[in-house]
Amino acid sequence: MASFKNSPAWQALEAHHSKTSGVHMRDLFAEDETRFDQFSLRQGGLLLDYSKNRISPETMDLLVDLARAADVEGWRDRMFAGEPVNTTEDRAALHVALRLPLDGEDTAAAPQGVWGPIIAMRNKMRAVSDAVRSGGWTGVTGKPIETVVHIGTGGSHLGPEMVCQSQGFVKPSGPEMIFISNVDGVQIFDALGGLAPETTLFIVASKTFTTEETITNARTARVWLVEALGEGALNKHFIAVSENAEAVAEFGIPADNAFDLWDWVGGRYSMWSAIGLPIAIALGMDRFEDMLAGAHDMDRHFQSAPLNANMPVILGLIGLWNIDFLGAEGLAILPYDEGLRGLPNYLRQLEMESNGKALDRQGDPVEAGTAAVVFGDPGTRGQHAFYQALHQGRQLITCDFIAPMESRHAIGSHHDRLLANYFAQTEALMRGRGPEEADAVMSARNVPESLRDRQRPHRVFEGNRPTNSILLDRVDPFTLGQLIALYEHKVFVQAVLWDINPFDQWGVEWGKELAAQILETLRNGGHDIDVSSSSQGLIDHYKTHKAQKTKKTP
Ligand code: F6P
Repeated sequence: MASFKNSPAWQALEAHHSKTSGVHMRDLFAEDETRFDQFSLRQGGLLLDYSKNRISPETMDLLVDLARAADVEGWRDRMFAGEPVNTTEDRAALHVALRLPLDGEDTAAAPQGVWGPIIAMRNKMRAVSDAVRSGGWTGVTGKPIETVVHIGTGGSHLGPEMVCQSQGFVKPSGPEMIFISNVDGVQIFDALGGLAPETTLFIVASKTFTTEETITNARTARVWLVEALGEGALNKHFIAVSENAEAVAEFGIPADNAFDLWDWVGGRYSMWSAIGLPIAIALGMDRFEDMLAGAHDMDRHFQSAPLNANMPVILGLIGLWNIDFLGAEGLAILPYDEGLRGLPNYLRQLEMESNGKALDRQGDPVEAGTAAVVFGDPGTRGQHAFYQALHQGRQLITCDFIAPMESRHAIGSHHDRLLANYFAQTEALMRGRGPEEADAVMSARNVPESLRDRQRPHRVFEGNRPTNSILLDRVDPFTLGQLIALYEHKVFVQAVLWDINPFDQWGVEWGKELAAQILETLRNGGHDIDVSSSSQGLIDHYKTHKAQKTKKTP
């Protein structure tokens, strides 16, 4: 692809930016009272307000021109058609096929060969989740399952945990769900501590079934179970979700308990597959199907809405404008919903593992972009942690504020108070506050005159900090499916604009390879490896400490 920064569309945006860079959103709103109507979109149970961005109708027209010039629509259609859009691995990326309705006319849209396996997977998920929830699935001593322990990491963990948390699943309505995702033994020790092996079911979720953290945890869980119930217990207490059937069988999990995964499903796009089994067990398969339906609703919107009224396209373009023209370095995901406390970390992997790249599809350096640093915490908690930097920091950090209009637990004035903060923060970040307002605040608070000159500059807020606001009717499986699919397609749109491949993750390999070499020297003494004096010094310090500790321990 020709260098996109030399393209007429990009050049037009450069010119537009130099003409408009001094504009303050406060003035844009004062000049035009229809900004909310102009720059907001609705789809199903989701409203996106992107008017608190430094944009004008001309900005949006130029951004849409850029999307057209980059052939976003062509790449989108190729992805949905199952073409190898994962160019470095020559694979399709067909997470959208996973959420096609079983009985809808859309099934014809499923590219060749994928629909049969998907139906088989969905039917098996329903059978297993129904059996576990009904008590039909019993452990080796005949007792029903009370706790499901999901072992996985990254895309094989974050989605299921986030969705289960968001629906506030509680024990009486289904088994207790526990998620283990770190090789740090503290996590599995704490998790298994209070569990009864007879009523515990393990799900080992790993597309490759070689991820060291996951397999180490699975082995520890197996020892814990076998010590209590014997070798034969695996058949009733272990399920696997993986593309690697051979490794699953070698681990000792029978084929009947194994769910397939496929190379056309990327890890961070996989919760719509059997990786989502914990969701189906916690909430019931019907609710899991609702989530798929929400994502499918967003898929159809992405496929059919015109670019200038297409939510994923708009969100992707706004993100590019903020990063490449306004210099934004961070993106804060701020769910004003305690149930969505897992959403920032989920979207962090989706955005940063997909688009945290410096090479384009041809292997040449990318000249602009790419993914911002994604972080976040639920409101209102984050307000007491990092909002100082959002309002008055030197780095421009843009924010996506997300809230449900209905709370899962409407208690007294809590939800109004939560939403009052949600509405206030985007207004404050946009509008800022001048010295006169700062003086008014100081006099209202009887700040001593002697301090007012000193405090005044610090009480002034420049504002003009871009934010997106997303309002959901409620956080139910359908709207959550819409929301996640929205971000999946936003990330895809940005990858097309930056001409990068969002479906591979070569960057995670080198650390893993070095860790394997260092583990060798930690476990077996072994040859010293070729590392810097710093790493060698640290390793030696650890080995010495460990040796001394072992000597002292009787
Ligand atoms: O972080 C690298 C990665 O490959 C992710 O893309 C993936 O979701 C995670 O590790 C887990 O991989 P697996 O499902 O193969 O265990």
